[in-house]
Amino acid sequence: MNLVVVSNRVARGTAHEPMTGGLAAALLPVVEKSGAIWVGSSGRVRDGAQKEPFAEIEALGAGALAMLDLPSAHYGGYYEGFANSALWPALHSRSDLICATEEDYRSYREVNSFMARALLRFVKPDTAFWIQDYHFLALGAELRHLGVTRPIGFFLHTPWPTRAIMGGVSHHRELIEAMLAYDLIGFQTQDDRENFLDYLASDLGLEIKNSVVTSRYGKSHIKVFPIGIDPRKFAEQSARAASHPDVSRLRRSLNGEKLAIGVDRLDYSKGLVNRIKAFDRMWTMQPALARTVSLLQIATPSRGAIEAYGNLQSELAKLVSDVNGRHGEVDWTPIRYLNKGYSQTVLAGLYRTAQVGVVTPLHDGMNLVAKEYVAAQNPADPGVLVLSKFAGAANELDTALLVNPHDIDGMARTIATAVTMPLHERRMRWEAMMAKLRASTIQQWFADFVDALQETAQETRSERDPAEPLIDEPLAVRSLRSAGSGVQYH
Ligand code: F6P
Repeated sequence: MNLVVVSNRVARGTAHEPMTGGLAAALLPVVEKSGAIWVGSSGRVRDGAQKEPFAEIEALGAGALAMLDLPSAHYGGYYEGFANSALWPALHSRSDLICATEEDYRSYREVNSFMARALLRFVKPDTAFWIQDYHFLALGAELRHLGVTRPIGFFLHTPWPTRAIMGGVSHHRELIEAMLAYDLIGFQTQDDRENFLDYLASDLGLEIKNSVVTSRYGKSHIKVFPIGIDPRKFAEQSARAASHPDVSRLRRSLNGEKLAIGVDRLDYSKGLVNRIKAFDRMWTMQPALARTVSLLQIATPSRGAIEAYGNLQSELAKLVSDVNGRHGEVDWTPIRYLNKGYSQTVLAGLYRTAQVGVVTPLHDGMNLVAKEYVAAQNPADPGVLVLSKFAGAANELDTALLVNPHDIDGMARTIATAVTMPLHERRMRWEAMMAKLRASTIQQWFADFVDALQETAQETRSERDPAEPLIDEPLAVRSLRSAGSGVQYH
């Protein structure tokens, strides 16, 4: 099979370069090995009459990486607009932050349509497409509209919310109907899958039998594929990273004091404000823990052009400064707060140095930092993971100390418990988590999805009529096209 993987962000980096997107970093090693073609945004935009849509095509392991300049007239409306100011807040159950215009939706559809046209060059008799994430909910429908009958799968890396929340996104019905052009739709957890099925049944009146829904596109299989990591590779990386200058400098600076670590994109879904407040409460409720444990919080700036992200950055900077001002001393800083990205190699070493990992999102599809923290531990003296029960990872890592990220006092108490946990309990919890990580790796995730896509597509292919366009072109897109949007399609 000639697999084409599509995501907004792609990774070309190595383990030594800073990486921001969780998805891109997670996919890199498996896509590289698979021989697939990975298509995504180059991060640059172009206007007007581009003849050749791909900015760059380069070798990636046994396959290739194809990076596309997206249309400048629509990039902002697509990325900062509809994808990250309507879909992202909704998918993370933050209806209050949904804020996107009709123009943003049009741009979102335009970019999905642009990507579909660009992908046509990869359609061969044995091609299968695997589309990643919420940036491309309608890409399968656009491909079908162009007559593509090859298998198309979709995996969502974020949570899927309740139907009431999804109902707050403009054009939700049109988008979710468009998703049914996918032969296989994968979610991170059973809850996400159930929320999606509930929407299909209640809002679209569709019948679901044995995880299969039939729409005008044919059959779509709706399944759960929790994404994993490569725990062996991460363990090796973390042991090796001990001698990395950043890691040894951190260790020396601790003077025997314990360290808790948090590593997140600077995003409101990550629960950073509540986490900092929990540390504040812990040092207030248990003053003996001041100078005993400090926090290293890496918060990599993200989506800075969106107001909610700018506001969060200011709020956090002020909060950290208040907490440090209150609990700090001339020779002790309670929170080291860093707004930059680190390579996976350095992160692996930092995780191993920390006795506590704090991963406390308000909502998260999976959260691979939680898994990486566990895999990076020294088996003889492992640290403790404090994990939000609202991260997808909590389903598997159920021997972590699970917390409610809205309960600040509860989190403060749990972090204190983690700091003082005896070795035998730490080992017992860690071993149980490692067994889960080994049983559900990123390689397994990739293979399971591709196998399922092949199986489901065999079933549905014969039922599809390639001659007939399966979707009406969205009106908004049609009018833009006839008005001449300044973007040429190839
Ligand atoms: O599904 C979440 C995701 O797509 C992950 O790749 C990553 O956590 C984040 O969103 C990346 O966001 P961005 O590409 O906007 O930096």
